[in-house]
Amino acid sequence: MSVRWGVVGPGRIASKVVRDFPHVPGAEVVAVASRSAERAAAFAAEHGIARSHGSYRAIVDDDGVDVLYIATPHPQHRAVALAALRSGKAVLVEKAFTVTPAATREIVAVAAETGLFAMEAMWTRFQPLIVRVQQLIADGALGEVEAVQADLGVRHPTDPTDRFYNPAVGGGALFDLGVYPISFAQMVLGIPDSVTAHGVLDQSGVDVEEAVQLGFPDGRSASLFSSLRCATPGQARIFGTAGWIDVLPRFHHPDTVVLHRTGHDPMEITLPRTGAGYTHELVEVTECVAAGRSESAIMPLVDTVAVQDVMGAVADQLGMIVQEGPADL
Ligand SMILES: NC(=O)c1ccc[n+]([C@@H]2O[C@H](COP(=O)([O-])OP(=O)(O)OC[C@H]3O[C@@H](n4cnc5c(N)ncnc54)[C@H](OP(=O)(O)O)[C@@H]3O)[C@@H](O)[C@H]2O)c1
Repeated sequence: MSVRWGVVGPGRIASKVVRDFPHVPGAEVVAVASRSAERAAAFAAEHGIARSHGSYRAIVDDDGVDVLYIATPHPQHRAVALAALRSGKAVLVEKAFTVTPAATREIVAVAAETGLFAMEAMWTRFQPLIVRVQQLIADGALGEVEAVQADLGVRHPTDPTDRFYNPAVGGGALFDLGVYPISFAQMVLGIPDSVTAHGVLDQSGVDVEEAVQLGFPDGRSASLFSSLRCATPGQARIFGTAGWIDVLPRFHHPDTVVLHRTGHDPMEITLPRTGAGYTHELVEVTECVAAGRSESAIMPLVDTVAVQDVMGAVADQLGMIVQEGPADL
């Protein structure tokens, strides 16, 4: 039997992600929910989805759904994820998982209590080339890995009507963009023991740009940059004692990486994505839910908590206004 998916929050990313489901064996999108019955019906008609719901509560109560893909703004993930888990549904929660470490821990605790599957939709970790990079590191291609650099910037001038500049819907560079370099560094280097942030806030209290330095045991480090005021290449580099890897733009869904090893010619590696690249995370969730697993080994909740803790420290150091959403639908 197929794993039956429901979509919550039919916005920009949801419409891209649902187009990858035809590439996912054993998965079917059976329902969509919006805060508006009309928007839900329009999304269902556009994407050939059988049922549409005019409230998030209705899809949480829909017994014909096994797993919800939560694609609302980040502060609004919390109420849907908690309600879904409490009503017996697995969840795939868009990045940033929440906007506070406390809300992330709350969801993780309910997932543990219920034994249900929960995962952050950090699609980068499932990209074929990123999986390859991790294999190269594990095989010792770089020697001892010492440092990571990564940037992700988009020029997005101040617009108070946009969710990027509204703390009530998780605005700012950190939660939309900075989460990628931070998660990438966490994937490679583990859990940092120090966080130092330098950045600038908009008058709304959201961050428009930050440089983040992470320190790890044994002096390893990550230098990360995210911005809404300048476009940047979106490149990552991993440095080791025997060489380095360039993850060419954009590193969060790369087409090409270049391995540079001391004494060897550079080696360019390309690997295709399936669909728009969301397929790989959807396959993982579908397989985990079908097998009754409560977590992904590739994107475990402990890593999501670690990333949220870094973002919480950055937000505190910059004095950002952070508004977590309600706990209840
Ligand atoms: N993985 C990726 O590549 C990627 C890319 C972009 C965004 N994202 C993540 O996906 C999430 C959604 O981003 P998006 O760009 O798709 O946003 P969006 O276009 O604004 O869509 C979000 C949807 O959430 C619903 N919603 C619920 N409460 C809301 C509120 N208070 N204000 C506004 N909308 C609300 C709305 O649908 P209804 O009102 O119809 O229910 C809206 O269409 C974010 O967490 C973001 O970081 C991920």
